Amino acid sequence: MEQFVIRGGRRLRGQVSISGSKNSALPIMAACLLAEGPCKLYPVPSLADVDFLGELLGELGCQVSREGSNLLLQVKSESSSHARYDIVRKMRASICVLGPLLAKRKYARVALPGGCSIGSRPVDIHLRGLRALGARIKLDSGDIVADCDELIGAEVFLGGPFGSTVTGTANIMMAAALAKGTTLIECAACEPEVQDLAAFLNAMGARISGAGSPRVTIEGVKKLTGVDYRIIPDRIEAGTFMIAAAITNGEVKLENVRVDHMMAVVDKLREIGVIIEKNNGGVVVSSNRRIAATDVTTQPYPGFPTDLQAQLMALLCQANGNSILTEKIYPDRFLHVAELGRMGANIHKEGPTAIVTGVSELVGAPVMASDLRASAALVLAGMAASGTTVINRVYHIDRGYESIESKLAALGADILREDPYKNSGKLDPATIAAE
Ligand code: EPZ
Repeated sequence: MEQFVIRGGRRLRGQVSISGSKNSALPIMAACLLAEGPCKLYPVPSLADVDFLGELLGELGCQVSREGSNLLLQVKSESSSHARYDIVRKMRASICVLGPLLAKRKYARVALPGGCSIGSRPVDIHLRGLRALGARIKLDSGDIVADCDELIGAEVFLGGPFGSTVTGTANIMMAAALAKGTTLIECAACEPEVQDLAAFLNAMGARISGAGSPRVTIEGVKKLTGVDYRIIPDRIEAGTFMIAAAITNGEVKLENVRVDHMMAVVDKLREIGVIIEKNNGGVVVSSNRRIAATDVTTQPYPGFPTDLQAQLMALLCQANGNSILTEKIYPDRFLHVAELGRMGANIHKEGPTAIVTGVSELVGAPVMASDLRASAALVLAGMAASGTTVINRVYHIDRGYESIESKLAALGADILREDPYKNSGKLDPATIAAE
């Protein structure tokens, strides 16, 4: 299995262009199932998750092809509406095909996604919302089987114990777009990716208002047509690179970044001493001293995003003082804690809270990636640590970051992607363990 080998201590300098948003591209790809005619999405990052969803859409009769950073999608057949478990289990966001299939084809069989390393990933709120629109839903051998005569607009509440649901809001918006009558979503997710999906649907002819606020109104229409559409920049990749500049005491200019989507992140980084300045269309991030400790709680947008909790923790491992990170979205999202501990970090976890006592130095070590954002945190820590860090199972990081090692190396990081067992004639223990 491939691994990253990182030799720490290099200050990052230069400029990096942020890719299109993974979490915007995925639901918008699913929304192409609603379109009469072809869609072109750009720039769509080259990621494992995009490939997985492209494979699934292909099985659902939607042809997906790539021309550079352009993704071309067109429904050619509606005969198969079964999203199989062995694809869905690889990529949870596959659940986003449920709403479009139900709205367009009046039937869908979608495998329940199951859990993942950041916690159980229920879809009860998705199903509650679709039932409110008139769908008949049952569970059969691990699959969601949904059908309807016609979806009817309704008032739908999407609140749960951890707030709203991003992909749940996406599913209901996509289903309601072709429903008869008007749907009012109360407690909708407000993330920029939800706003981007609504803008895409409206470009196709939908009539959605209020996206980005907790109250979204969708007036159903008869038909949606294919369009060309630009995806928003990835705010989580941007936040990761901001922290990369800070953790290496470097100076990096980010291009293709929507700072207005990142106010909580920018506010927190400035609070601890990171310098962030707008610079003709981009943002320059730098740090030249030890950062201050802080307290942070992850929240639904516009609060601090859970997808940057691990990366911020890596930065706070060397802060001046004690920091408290509380995870309100995925209380178990702390698999990076033990691995950071292997590098000399001093972190104490108490339930959904981690107390990070800043240390003067991290030391490189072999560590194990466990999920997408935890892997990014280990890369950040490896660049700041003295010595060499080897990160195993980097396939996790390929799910959500486009060529991260190339982008970091171009900024001066000493990072290589290697596969030590390739052509060695020996079995890779990590592969055996994974099986
Ligand atoms: C989206 O996942 C993102 N993924 C996640 O990013 C992100 O962490 C998450 O939103 C929160 O911001 C995509 O957009 C593809 P939720 P999603 O439904 O939609 C609970 C990454 O690293 N919940 O908003 O699956 C749930 O357990 C990924 O890029 C229910 O209880 O998240 C969680 O605690 C990881 N019932 C909270 O709500 C439901 O029916 C938020 O989940 C749905 C969710």
